[in-house]
Amino acid sequence: MLGVRLKKTEVGDTMEAVKKHFEDEAKEFDEIILRLIPHYKEMIDGMVSSIPANNSSNINVIDLGCGTGTISKQIKINYPGATITCLDLAENMIEMSKLKLAAFPDIRFQVGDFRNYEFDDTYDVVVSSLALHHLVTDDDKIEFYKKIYESLRPNGVFFNADVIVTTQPQKAICCQE
Ligand SMILES: C[S@@+](CC[C@H](N)C(=O)[O-])C[C@H]1O[C@@H](n2cnc3c(N)ncnc32)[C@H](O)[C@@H]1O
Repeated sequence: MLGVRLKKTEVGDTMEAVKKHFEDEAKEFDEIILRLIPHYKEMIDGMVSSIPANNSSNINVIDLGCGTGTISKQIKINYPGATITCLDLAENMIEMSKLKLAAFPDIRFQVGDFRNYEFDDTYDVVVSSLALHHLVTDDDKIEFYKKIYESLRPNGVFFNADVIVTTQPQKAICCQE
């Protein structure tokens, strides 16, 4: 398996930079992301509407790297009975998500690094969008995906939405659709 090998200190430095970036960007994030990520709204809608639940389900959800809470808000709109844990490294992102989700009950906000997050609950749905690519090494990815798997309840699902680059034009069209 190909991968990036970084020394611990370099990974730590990178995460500090990631945190600072999102602390600084939090207030403008919702505007910036629409310009930066083509079809962002469609990506979020596609992910949330794929959750195998109906609008009366009391699903327990965790949103890893929740940012300003856009995915969690869409989940609460589609599945009002959902209980959601919103986790993010950047305090300012969590502050923005608190504002965005102020009207909704059953939401827990946590500031923390998902890489060393101790899952204290089990979930019907684990979601993440544009965040897990911050796991740098293959070892980190494998270890973390195992933790996610272990946190899932029976029939639980994990969705990770992100942007990928393809060299095959037909796949690019397929992804847009
Ligand atoms: C590009 S934003 C995406 C936000 C949101 N998921 C969305 O799609 O709108 C990435 C988010 O992941 C968070 N993040 C990055 N690395 C993280 C980590 N190790 N632990 C927790 N959050 C992290 C950042 O602070 C940022 O809010």
